Amino acid sequence: MEHVYHIPEQKEKETFVFYTTLLKNMKVLVATEKPFAKVAVDGIREVVEKAGYQLILLEKYTAKEQLLEAVADADALIIRSDNVDAEVLDAAKQLKIVVRAGAGYDNIDLAAATAHSVVAMNTPGQNSNAVAELALGLMVMAVRNMYNGTSGTELKGKKLGIHAYGNVGRNVARIAKGFGMEIYAYDAYCPDEVMVAEGVMPLHSAEELYTTCDVVSLHIPATPETKGSINYALLKNMPKGGLLVNTARKEVINEEELIRFMQERTDFRYVTDVMPAADQKMHELFEERYFATPKKMGAQTAEANINAGIAAAKQIVDFFVNGVTKFQVNK
Ligand code: 3PG
Repeated sequence: MEHVYHIPEQKEKETFVFYTTLLKNMKVLVATEKPFAKVAVDGIREVVEKAGYQLILLEKYTAKEQLLEAVADADALIIRSDNVDAEVLDAAKQLKIVVRAGAGYDNIDLAAATAHSVVAMNTPGQNSNAVAELALGLMVMAVRNMYNGTSGTELKGKKLGIHAYGNVGRNVARIAKGFGMEIYAYDAYCPDEVMVAEGVMPLHSAEELYTTCDVVSLHIPATPETKGSINYALLKNMPKGGLLVNTARKEVINEEELIRFMQERTDFRYVTDVMPAADQKMHELFEERYFATPKKMGAQTAEANINAGIAAAKQIVDFFVNGVTKFQVNK
């Protein structure tokens, strides 16, 4: 375990008092362009203030300059999908830790964080049920023709493909079982036994998943390897009436190829919680075969905000007090 603020037992009393004073004056900034529910902010405040630190809130900011100004004297930072790049880290002269209250940390420049000696963490699993519930909600909406009153289809008996079997994927599987779906998953990093134990049939390539399943639910992170990986060549494997649900990241989709595919395959539908750059064009072209939420809302529930926000605050306190770096992602 790395003890960043560990005080050696033999330190003189004055030094201990000095360190303690330092710790007590910590400023924890919550910078959320898309704010947490108030009840979650109250919970974060309680954890932070109980530790003797000060909570600073920057919610619904509209310009990067506001973030640059607010981070100047922050010792710790809690964010959601807010971008923490080299410029933000340059401006954050006191910063020791940034915690992404959520799963995906593609919005943090990890190399820059390391270069600035800033520990970066996420809070895995804390908001995954909320995202999974929305994935199922989007599925129902799509197979009921966007609730337009026409006759749709049911999820029961359909084959669901979970693309990446992490915390969200597992929750999607759990809920989809209740709908009576047949569940398959592909995840290069998850052992077959884990899926089998949860009643999920493991497949061994993305091609196999897309060929087998009527509905595919995306849960892959945005990495250099996955960006643009959901492309024409992969989608063309999907059976007639196929449905793709994306509650992951827009960057994993090759938008140009998705549009070309949907123009050719007029039976195919795409519903997403991460709005494509070509949203307007896709609405015009595909009408009720396409839907995007106006703002990413998978993790936008009071429960997910409380879980992820308070976990982030606790991880910060645990880091400063005990040097715990369990969820560090820039090792
Ligand atoms: C995540 O990575 O945890 C989800 O995409 C949620 O993101 P959000 O906190 O911006 O809603």
